[in-house]
Amino acid sequence: MENKTSYNLLLLLASLNLAFLFSSCSASASSFNVVSFGAKADGKSDSTKAFLDAWAQACGSATAATVYVPKGRFLLRNSVFAGQCKSTKITVRIDGTLVAPSDYNVIGNSKYWLLFQQVNTVTINGGILDGQGTGLWACKNSGKSCPGGATSISFMNSNNIVINGLTSQNSQLYHIVFNGCNNVKMQGVRISASRTSPNTDGIHVQLSTSVSIYNTRIATGDDCVSVGPGTANLWIENVQCGPGHGISIGSLGKHLEEPGVQNVTVKTTTFTGTQNGVRIKSWGRPSNGFARNILFQHAVMSNVSGVKISDVTYQDIHGSSATAVAVKFDCSSEYPCSRIRMENVKLTYNNQVASASCSHADGTSSGLVQPTSCL
Ligand SMILES: *[C@@H]1O[C@H](CO)[C@@H](O)[C@H](O)[C@H]1NC(C)=O
Ligand SMILES: *[C@@H]1O[C@H](CO)[C@@H](O)[C@H](O)[C@H]1NC(C)=O
Repeated sequence: MENKTSYNLLLLLASLNLAFLFSSCSASASSFNVVSFGAKADGKSDSTKAFLDAWAQACGSATAATVYVPKGRFLLRNSVFAGQCKSTKITVRIDGTLVAPSDYNVIGNSKYWLLFQQVNTVTINGGILDGQGTGLWACKNSGKSCPGGATSISFMNSNNIVINGLTSQNSQLYHIVFNGCNNVKMQGVRISASRTSPNTDGIHVQLSTSVSIYNTRIATGDDCVSVGPGTANLWIENVQCGPGHGISIGSLGKHLEEPGVQNVTVKTTTFTGTQNGVRIKSWGRPSNGFARNILFQHAVMSNVSGVKISDVTYQDIHGSSATAVAVKFDCSSEYPCSRIRMENVKLTYNNQVASASCSHADGTSSGLVQPTSCL
């Protein structure tokens, strides 16, 4: 029961209804400039206290409030921006760059670098987050024992979060995480890390509802977007991914009791040189988790390896595969993939028609489908 089964899909439009055997997001009037609280734009002086003091003033404000970060590089240690604020709306406007300590041991055991906890109605406009992760990646890639690393920016148990035009580079661990959140809108986000950086997922969403991600470019060493248990009403549109591992739902079903993933739309995405396209991963063990109503639509793939899918509708998917088998439905005999629909799919391998492989998968195809459907 412990062997891991992948129900993987090849990028397409998927309208899934998978019952796996098994089965958490989200962070004017008065303006508070961090420099007035003692922050130094020199990239070397620890500005953590100044940022937290400016946040506390904004949070305690009787009106809508802004925390302002001017141009320059500001060094911050791990910082918790706590909510339950008096202010009903806080905007963080960042013209500069927030820099993590270059010694990964300073924040590498704390899981979080910048953490927004229980905040309500927070908007982040602009800014660059530099996680300075290269040292930790080298440590991890050398096989030494290293700290786990810190996610660059996380929102926990927060509602009504807007992120516009934020750039995250070289995170130690994940770039952006929403856990236990409701109503999140992200747009114009840029994420970059080396293709060989371990566990640097671009955006991770779990136990969260109504998260939308628009017009975002992600180049990283792990999943561009990863979707964990308890995610509902997720909308991803106009996202470029690559390098990276694609957009992944799962792994689901690690635990016996697990909330499912439902109503996920992934629309108009481009995958370039990614390890996968769109996939759903699950553990082959007992769980009440599930994934249903998943749609992958209008994807373009170039040179994507192992584009894999399960239990989904693939509609209008075109491009090239780096492997001869471009479409792979690899499902278990005990819990086969069902109701897979393929419509207008054309994937090539070396300018020739690619092949498809099906194991315990059934469904229907319509329109032009190349490789010929094996459902
Ligand atoms: C599915 O999610 C979208 C947002 O991504 C939302 O607009 C829609 O109402 C949801 N559908 C259902 C049936 O909940
Ligand atoms: C496709 O990817 C392979 C392996 O990742 C690489 O060697 C090759 O140069 C890529 N081809 C193109 C056209 O980018």
